[in-house]
Amino acid sequence: MMINKRLIENVSDSKKYIAANVAAQWCSLAANIVIMAVIAKLLGSLYKGTADSSELAACALGIAAAVVIRFICAAASSRMSYLSSKTVKKTLRSMIYRKLLRLGNSYKEKIHTSEIVQVTVEGVDQLETYFGAYLPQFFYSMLAPLTLFVVLSFVNFKAAVVLLICVPLIPVTIAAVQTWAKKLLAKYWGQYTALGDTFLENLQGMTTLKIYQADEFKHIKMNEESEKFRKITMKVLSMQLNSITVMDIIAYGGAALGIIVAVMQYRSGYVSLEGCILIILLSADFFIPMRQLGSFFHIAMNGMAASDKIFRLLDLPEEEVKTETLDGDISIKCRDLKFSYDGKRQILCGINMNFNTGSFTAVVGESGCGKSTVADILMCRNKGYSGTVLIGDKELSGLSEESVLDKITYIGHQSYIFKGTVMENLLMGKPDAAQEELWEVLKRVKLDDFLSKMQGLDTVICEKASNFSGGQRQRLALARALLHNSDIYIFDEATSNIDVESENDIMEEIYRLAKTKTVILISHRLANVTRADNIYVMEQGRVAESGSHEELLAGGGVYSVLWNAQQRLENYGKEVCYEQ
Ligand SMILES: Nc1ncnc2c1ncn2[C@@H]1O[C@H](COP(=O)(O)OP(=O)(O)O)[C@@H](O)[C@H]1O
Ligand SMILES: [Mg+2]
Repeated sequence: MMINKRLIENVSDSKKYIAANVAAQWCSLAANIVIMAVIAKLLGSLYKGTADSSELAACALGIAAAVVIRFICAAASSRMSYLSSKTVKKTLRSMIYRKLLRLGNSYKEKIHTSEIVQVTVEGVDQLETYFGAYLPQFFYSMLAPLTLFVVLSFVNFKAAVVLLICVPLIPVTIAAVQTWAKKLLAKYWGQYTALGDTFLENLQGMTTLKIYQADEFKHIKMNEESEKFRKITMKVLSMQLNSITVMDIIAYGGAALGIIVAVMQYRSGYVSLEGCILIILLSADFFIPMRQLGSFFHIAMNGMAASDKIFRLLDLPEEEVKTETLDGDISIKCRDLKFSYDGKRQILCGINMNFNTGSFTAVVGESGCGKSTVADILMCRNKGYSGTVLIGDKELSGLSEESVLDKITYIGHQSYIFKGTVMENLLMGKPDAAQEELWEVLKRVKLDDFLSKMQGLDTVICEKASNFSGGQRQRLALARALLHNSDIYIFDEATSNIDVESENDIMEEIYRLAKTKTVILISHRLANVTRADNIYVMEQGRVAESGSHEELLAGGGVYSVLWNAQQRLENYGKEVCYEQ
């Protein structure tokens, strides 16, 4: 297949530009035929000695007019190229964007972020040549030899036939390399995204790499990957270069063959001198468009490989749009909840949990036991669980993501604060909040003092909120969450990795919130959960035990062991202090 039907169908707007482009090129060809005919005629008269000044003037005028036409056609053609590739890029990018919106919260389960970025930016750009140059050339390169054939067949049929017959040899070569090229390009793209992935990851983790002095190791790894990429790039380039050479040989060989036939016909008297000159002048034009198509073809192949990637993204299965919304009852019940990320390793092995309306529930357990996985299921980030998760009397998987996220606010251990201002970040929680309301929540999280010393609500936040401390970031995230005023709040290690003072302030606010809202508090630090109405203790994807702090201590199970161990650790520091 030299043409990707689906691609064209998807951006049918560009068809008219492509047609106009072909028409402009064809007019240009017609003008060129006129120029060559005039020159051939003139040379003939000069040879015969019949040329006079009026003929010269007429020729000059004819050529000048044709040149102007060619100039206009070239401008029109490049304008059409621009318009069609612009339409295509815009259409595809918005298709991708809408697709991502539909994929929603769980897109990461299906595709890497870096792949999306590459496909949307680079991938779509690659299609520029496909629509702007390759497709118009595809039609023009068939139209041009036929037009020339029709014209030259009146001059000398034999030579015209020879020239026409040689033209298809070029697409035959193209087709021959295509199968091979396709495999090579798929590999090339694979390597390209892999390199991009590694690069992005290493760049983001630069600080960590420096701390562990692992940058040297990663450096070597990355060099290896770039070396692989270099090799495959060179392979692609040499493949392209070689096939271009072959096409050149065919093009100029074919033209030469046509010329030889024309000259022989002239010597036998079957064609006039003018006619023979015209054939010589136009013979290369039979092949040039096809030859041009060949060189666009490789770039177009890149585009087609990219379009495969784009369609892979566009074809990712989507959950059907859920329309069911939550009504009043927002108590959550998980029954026999099972989940696996990869379909092999079971992360949740049949969990039963209740989060009643207005209750304060804690989930504790060792790192990796599946606490965040439960939270992510509730936040619609992990789909494909088995068992039941009921919110009210409705199954979570049948609910629209929007209606769930409207009821549940999640605060993780590293909240995403956007680049911009404090106000912009806060308004995400409640777009129509008044300034006093913003200050009120800032006061609750004890950021008001700090911010009034800065530029207040207009305080600028850098990328990744790097100009804020970890504690400040979490306070701001909490303020934003408070503004959202949802019925359910999930705190997933929201106070880990921050200073003790911030931790205490945030915990105070969580306790206050728990009086009016449903709060799910995930923590590995048991001292924070003692006030919860109910505590679930998880162990390797199961609920090992549950109850209030006192009940669990009295039970003498996993919780009490963990509690004692943590108490010893926390008191250890104090004892040392007392001794001094
Ligand atoms: N996106 C993911 N893909 C594959 N495995 C994951 C993913 N997220 C977590 N896991 C695995 O699931 C297990 C439970 O993780 P998690 O729920 O985050 O534990 P925690 O209790 O510490 O919050 C871990 O073994 C982790 O390796
Ligand atoms: Mg976790």
